[in-house]
Amino acid sequence: MGSRKPLIAGNWKMHGRAADLAEIGALAETIGAAGSKIDVLICPPAAFVQSAAWQNRAGPILIGAQDCSPNAADAARTGEISAAMFADAGARYVIVGHSERRQIHGETDVLVRQKAGAAIEAGLTPIVCVGETQAERSAGRVAEIVSSQVRGSVPGQGAFVVAYEPVWAIGGSSTPTLAEIAEVHALIRETLAAQFGGQANDMRILYGGSVNPKNASEIFAVDGVDGALVGRASLKAADFSAIILGHPAAA
Ligand code: PGA
Repeated sequence: MGSRKPLIAGNWKMHGRAADLAEIGALAETIGAAGSKIDVLICPPAAFVQSAAWQNRAGPILIGAQDCSPNAADAARTGEISAAMFADAGARYVIVGHSERRQIHGETDVLVRQKAGAAIEAGLTPIVCVGETQAERSAGRVAEIVSSQVRGSVPGQGAFVVAYEPVWAIGGSSTPTLAEIAEVHALIRETLAAQFGGQANDMRILYGGSVNPKNASEIFAVDGVDGALVGRASLKAADFSAIILGHPAAA
């Protein structure tokens, strides 16, 4: 068993305006001392990463980006933002391989791994998302899909985080059972151990998909769950702080 500091990350997706960055300041106040025991991260839209990082430079809330270019070097890539630019703007983490990127933008494991590698090269910690669709779950293919996404998407070296996000649980109201979450987290750690050996015990694996203030604490208590990746319930400080304060480490 490694020593893994919990990480609770908010993915704002394409929500919010500059004025909503005040929620991050409110969050910092509400969580108080829990901010030193748990890594709390907000990933606002790219347009707001720099101002969010500047506003929260005194801590404890960390700022991250959502997605980055696979290109490490500056290049002619209209509309893309490199991991180095996000690092320069004050980001510490970047979410890669989210199911919305995989499904809407057709991102493959190969591309996700390139993005994760570019993030590490820039000094960011990538949060690599994996997860099965409802059809894959119904067909009994969870283990096959999740382990192959992990093998194909995580970088070969450097520190990274894996987020298990069943696609069918994102943006809805249902989550897997606690036993199912435990099972997939164990599978992901075994998959990582096959590649990285004992280091896998130090790697954080988050659960994501319809985490809310009501279900968070029971999910945090599941063996092998090192925190959460939260969408909707991270937009308002009131909801997100209730989730964070529900973590056993916050007590
Ligand atoms: P949700 O989104 O919490 O709104 O279900 C989670 C995610 O997509 O990261």
